Amino acid sequence: MGLWVLMICFLALSTTAQSQSSTGFISIDCGLDGATNYTESTMNIIYSPDALYVDAGENRRVSPETNLTGVFDYYKTLRSFSNGTRNCYTLQPLVKGRKYLVRAEFQYGNFDGRDSPPTFDVYLGIHFWWTVPPDEFSRLEIIVVSPGESMQVCLVNKGLGTPYISVLELRPLLDSMYPLVNSSQALVLRGDRTDHGSTGTTRYPEDPYDRIWFSPGETEDWLPMSTDKTVESGSRNFMVPASVLSTAVTTPNISESLNFTVTGLLGEEIYVFMYFAELQQLGMNETREFNVYANSTLWFRQYRPDYLSGGAIYTSRPGTGGTTTYSLKATRNSTLPPFINAFEAHILVQLSTLPTHQNDTDAVLKIKNFYKVKNWEGDPCVPKDLAWAGLGCSYDGSLNPRIVSLNLSHAGLSGGISPFIANLTALVTLDLSHNNLIGEIPRDLVELSQLKVLQLENNDLSGYVPYILLEKSANKTLSLSLDGNTNLCPGTDSCGVKGRKKRVIVPIAISIGGILALLSLILIIMWRVRMRKQKDVQNISSKKIESSNNEQKNLHSVSSQFTFAEIVNITKNFQQQIGKGGFGIVYHGRLKTGIEVAVKMLSKTSSQGAKEFESEAQILTRVHHRNLVSFLGYCNDPNNLSLVYEFMTQGTLAKHLSDNRSNDLSWSIRLKIALDVAQGLDYLHSFCKPPIIHRDVKTTNILLNQSLEAKLADFGLSRLFHDDASACISTAIVGTPGYLDPEYYQTSNLNAKSDIYSFGVVLFELITGKPPIINSTENISIVPWVQSRINRGDITMIVDERFEGKYNINSMWKAIEIAVSCTAPYSIQRPTMSNVVMELKECLTSETSQDIPRNFKIQEESSVDIVPLFLDTATGPLAR
Ligand SMILES: *[C@@H]1O[C@H](CO)[C@@H](O)[C@H](O)[C@H]1NC(C)=O
Ligand SMILES: *[C@@H]1O[C@H](CO)[C@@H](O)[C@H](O)[C@H]1NC(C)=O
Ligand SMILES: *[C@@H]1O[C@H](CO)[C@@H](O)[C@H](O)[C@H]1NC(C)=O
Ligand SMILES: *[C@@H]1O[C@H](CO)[C@@H](O)[C@H](O)[C@H]1NC(C)=O
Ligand SMILES: *[C@@H]1O[C@H](CO)[C@@H](O)[C@H](O)[C@H]1NC(C)=O
Ligand SMILES: *[C@@H]1O[C@H](CO)[C@@H](O)[C@H](O)[C@H]1NC(C)=O
Ligand SMILES: *[C@@H]1O[C@H](CO)[C@@H](O)[C@H](O)[C@H]1NC(C)=O
Ligand SMILES: *[C@@H]1O[C@H](CO)[C@@H](O)[C@H](O)[C@H]1NC(C)=O
Ligand SMILES: *[C@@H]1O[C@H](CO)[C@@H](O)[C@H](O)[C@H]1NC(C)=O
Ligand SMILES: *[C@@H]1O[C@H](CO)[C@@H](O)[C@H](O)[C@H]1NC(C)=O
Repeated sequence: MGLWVLMICFLALSTTAQSQSSTGFISIDCGLDGATNYTESTMNIIYSPDALYVDAGENRRVSPETNLTGVFDYYKTLRSFSNGTRNCYTLQPLVKGRKYLVRAEFQYGNFDGRDSPPTFDVYLGIHFWWTVPPDEFSRLEIIVVSPGESMQVCLVNKGLGTPYISVLELRPLLDSMYPLVNSSQALVLRGDRTDHGSTGTTRYPEDPYDRIWFSPGETEDWLPMSTDKTVESGSRNFMVPASVLSTAVTTPNISESLNFTVTGLLGEEIYVFMYFAELQQLGMNETREFNVYANSTLWFRQYRPDYLSGGAIYTSRPGTGGTTTYSLKATRNSTLPPFINAFEAHILVQLSTLPTHQNDTDAVLKIKNFYKVKNWEGDPCVPKDLAWAGLGCSYDGSLNPRIVSLNLSHAGLSGGISPFIANLTALVTLDLSHNNLIGEIPRDLVELSQLKVLQLENNDLSGYVPYILLEKSANKTLSLSLDGNTNLCPGTDSCGVKGRKKRVIVPIAISIGGILALLSLILIIMWRVRMRKQKDVQNISSKKIESSNNEQKNLHSVSSQFTFAEIVNITKNFQQQIGKGGFGIVYHGRLKTGIEVAVKMLSKTSSQGAKEFESEAQILTRVHHRNLVSFLGYCNDPNNLSLVYEFMTQGTLAKHLSDNRSNDLSWSIRLKIALDVAQGLDYLHSFCKPPIIHRDVKTTNILLNQSLEAKLADFGLSRLFHDDASACISTAIVGTPGYLDPEYYQTSNLNAKSDIYSFGVVLFELITGKPPIINSTENISIVPWVQSRINRGDITMIVDERFEGKYNINSMWKAIEIAVSCTAPYSIQRPTMSNVVMELKECLTSETSQDIPRNFKIQEESSVDIVPLFLDTATGPLAR
């Protein structure tokens, strides 16, 4: 019948008076306001408010009508949890592997005014503990070994009312107590612990483990027994308090048996514990001996309790469920009836569920704190149906669940990407898209060897993408999505100079990285195309100017490799030359899909051809911004190196300004163009690491699309330089007369402020409509020309006549001031590009009274017409 019994021998261990210390107790008076502990006077135990142990929930009080006469004060307050499915108390600090008793009490007291107690589940960590029934009062108790340095008690809302709790207590036990309890099984107390023959309740300090022993009271028909003598608690397995053992009940006559019934649900493993200590000094001719029957079957034979020393009979293997009647019956040799001192019934709970892998739990808790995620309570993956929102876990019965996906998209996250994400080593999918994340992509993400999907789109990330991620994405082992991060350089820093203090310029980097680096970058570009080629190309050809965001993304994805034969095809055998740049001729082209492109053939005669091809390809692949002309592809045929760019239908800004045809660029449009250019430059200076100096900002390098949105072209002269904007790089003077920073010209020391100077010149051109060198024979450049007129205070002598006075005088003056500050003779006097962007935005706002064309949006919008690049011709890049 599978029912076993164990008898504990009466090891009269000389357990000298227990140190009646409440060390290690955790006593929480749930719902108590404030942070002040108090000492409960009858027990002398310190109770704490729950602030230290729980984040969620609300403090409540029982209704004033509740009868709390003669009970502890802590039943007056409670904490309820109206939000979230699972809310947890964290009990800590605990000793891992130590045995604890955990008790929770629930005094409803109509705290919610509904007069209807709720019912909900309680979990100890990941393990189901019990369902709190819809009663006025409930008490749950469990004996368990702590798996770690903390344990959680979680209330789970089942949709049947708001979970609440009044008291939560934790008491350390001796390891020897309740030997059935170990790391894989716990005992849940069933009913009350009874102290037979007594009239009161015993708990701390009489029971140093603060178990609560209740008197069954008048319900007993049996006769009480008691002693004044000291009773040894006996076995260290139970440590029943002396005061509990010093009372008992017995039957009125020897033929009567002492019966108990214990009822369990089907499948419940019920364990009973009977405690005995003989309280009567027996005479020589007296014997007290009894048998214990379970359901009339002999369960324990001829038990003779020891005088004044505790012993126990308890189940070692249970029957299953149902109602079992236990009878204590005197044997034939016995001269005295049976008795019993105390009784407990427990249900054994198997703790077979495995918690989430500790490394993952540690990491995800840090992520939770990092982003202040709400409603992430309890174990991340367990139980399955309560796994945290946004987490995906792998459940392999015999192993701890692992976190394999983390989806925090559209979660309003700000700050950086949490470094702890890299500790989720089993992660396969990571989606942080559509948030406001800033900063760089942590390099540690490359350590996630299982990662297959990385979605970071639509954030404000900046800097470079770790090289290995790009490599994985290029060889299709990772699906990488970075779109919509306007400040991200989707290139790699592997050739960059990050972390090195010495300034290094691109030619050096290239000689190190060499062709291999270029090719791997190219692979990346190819991959990016293939992923979305077909769909996106269709989108682009539909040329919707409004839905700019998407299309901007798509453009980036279109870069791909072309064979020379394809280049011939695209350009219709180089039919239409649209420009001639420092590196070669630019032709108009058309892809198979109908998209217009600009194809730049690297001039064969150029002595530095191959190097410059590398330089440009390398830089261009890194740089994506709506105000920078997009790089769509390349051909690396050694004799026909060529680059393919988006085609900008409206050509260069220089052309628009110099055309003598009537003014097609109103002042507000010009301001918008200035802002576009400033934003493109700001991106290069501030958001790329290492920053990039353009070095050749001029109106022939500013291209306009169909909606007159401006994009900067020609990074052929760009050089990488250091974070430190004041740091200077010594190299050959490059630039274009009229735009050249005088300080740079004199010192050969290049820094971002040189671009600011050139930008100031462009701004003057927009204001005046005049070229940078106004009179080529006398070599008068625009800066002193404007300066001399400003001093006379007459704006009309400066401003382009073609405006016919249609401009806001304030915004005009402000623009002039900006241009003047940008062209200050000493770089230290010039503003940064970020300042300029801010100032120009203000300027444009004050101009909004003027009519701005409808498809002009001041803020982060872009349009997608495809447009030529490198139309730069006349003035060579080298100037001395
Ligand atoms: C209250 O008691 C808790 C648990 O014993 C303890 O950690 C905390 O420091 C106490 N707070 C105060 C204010 O004494
Ligand atoms: C309140 O409870 C106490 C103790 O249980 C009891 O003696 C008393 O009669 C109760 N009062 C009311 C109004 O029910
Ligand atoms: C519960 O959630 C709502 C909505 O999220 C919030 O406004 C409220 O403050 C939350 N209540 C508590 C006690 O956290
Ligand atoms: C045991 O002995 C005592 C006297 O020593 C006597 O009074 C008592 O009746 C005896 N009990 C039994 C059951 O024989
Ligand atoms: C106790 O149980 C036994 C058998 O289990 C039964 O014979 C007996 O009548 C019961 N006694 C009482 C007082 O219920
Ligand atoms: C006692 O009998 C009941 C009813 O037959 C049964 O459900 C229960 O499991 C039995 N108890 C034990 C310990 O076998
Ligand atoms: C009763 O006691 C006698 C003598 O002490 C012993 O021989 C006998 O086996 C006992 N009977 C039972 C049923 O225990
Ligand atoms: C968990 O973390 C420890 C310590 O950092 C490490 O030694 C162990 O390899 C990690 N386990 C897994 C599965 O990542
Ligand atoms: C978590 O990651 C940090 C940084 O990558 C590392 O220093 C730490 O050892 C990791 N911890 C674990 C448990 O793996
Ligand atoms: C893809 O890239 C990863 C990471 O660099 C590398 O380990 C792997 O071998 C590459 N696989 C192929 C097929 O090239």
